[in-house]
Amino acid sequence: MLFKQQAWLRQKLLVLGSLAVGSLLYLVARVGSLDRLQPICPIEGRFGARSQAEFPLRALQFKRGLLHEFRKGNTSKDQVSLHDLVQQLPKAIIIGVRKGGTRALLEMLNLHPAVVKASQEIHFFDNDENYAKGIEWYRKKMPFSYPQQITIEKSPAYFITEEVPERIYKMNSSIKLLIIVREPTTRAISDYTQVLEGKERKNKTYYKFEKLAIDPNTCEVNTKYKAVRTSIYTKHLERWLKYFPIEQFHVVDGDRLITEPLPELQLVEKFLNLPPRISQYNLYFNATRGFYCLRFNIIFNKCLAGSKGRIHPEVDPSVITKLRKFFHPFNQKFYQITGRTLNWP
Ligand code: A3P
Repeated sequence: MLFKQQAWLRQKLLVLGSLAVGSLLYLVARVGSLDRLQPICPIEGRFGARSQAEFPLRALQFKRGLLHEFRKGNTSKDQVSLHDLVQQLPKAIIIGVRKGGTRALLEMLNLHPAVVKASQEIHFFDNDENYAKGIEWYRKKMPFSYPQQITIEKSPAYFITEEVPERIYKMNSSIKLLIIVREPTTRAISDYTQVLEGKERKNKTYYKFEKLAIDPNTCEVNTKYKAVRTSIYTKHLERWLKYFPIEQFHVVDGDRLITEPLPELQLVEKFLNLPPRISQYNLYFNATRGFYCLRFNIIFNKCLAGSKGRIHPEVDPSVITKLRKFFHPFNQKFYQITGRTLNWP
């Protein structure tokens, strides 16, 4: 009898204990997510001069939670009064550069309660077939958001595709354009590494980087090689400047985004006229990945996929030197045009 009573008591204590731990965890998580919302201040400036009451960030954060549940299919639109959800055209686009850190930038900006990302690369402006489907097709590809939020998409091919600046201009001549760049030679090697991985997956052989980057006949840098051409940032930017003034661009230092993401993100918040909401709390270094990962609150965090942060093949140092020398004058011009000097060799 005594043994039975003890067992019953132990079971009760276990249930109560679990409840207490569960409640505690919930409270901690809640406080963690509320933490980033203080103090509440308005989003103002470029996205329209609106009253403070129209941009309560706390409400946006709350709604974002509902939006998340809605997207996961955990609730219906009516249940959570999401009737004011809209699919908005982007107010800012990450136009490139491929392998510059475009995914990391988009995901990190998405930590901001007023930002909603288009998860997929839409390739509307660079793909003739998609472009022919019209702007409504593009808008329908955008995620649901609240009118006070801004949608951001990224398609790195935009930066290097001839027709894109004019097409984006036709959609919105005052759109904000983000370009994330890395030291050009490193970017070219990263680009090569991605293509190489694709070839290896298909069991195809592929040339070494050195063979592609250097013309064997002249021993000069091979400007026909796409990975090299893409890294001549100034050439591409000049085409964009025929349509947009330089003030509409913001250059993100992709190398610094890897080692010190917060200051880079704060510059972007400023450029987008968003109140500073991304904090050190949202970014933590993951030693296993070797990169910063994202923390939404005490429970939800994520690192980028394994395809981001590949190990690069070793490249002949003389080829690296040659490439760096080649890019140098283009880099100087890029700094001069953009007003952002990066410490590239
Ligand atoms: P590597 O694979 O060469 O290291 P993109 O998204 O434009 O394709 O860029 C990919 C690059 O983003 C990666 O290039 C990686 O270095 C960089 N990156 C920047 N921040 C990162 C992060 N937090 N996690 C993973 N990769 C990151």
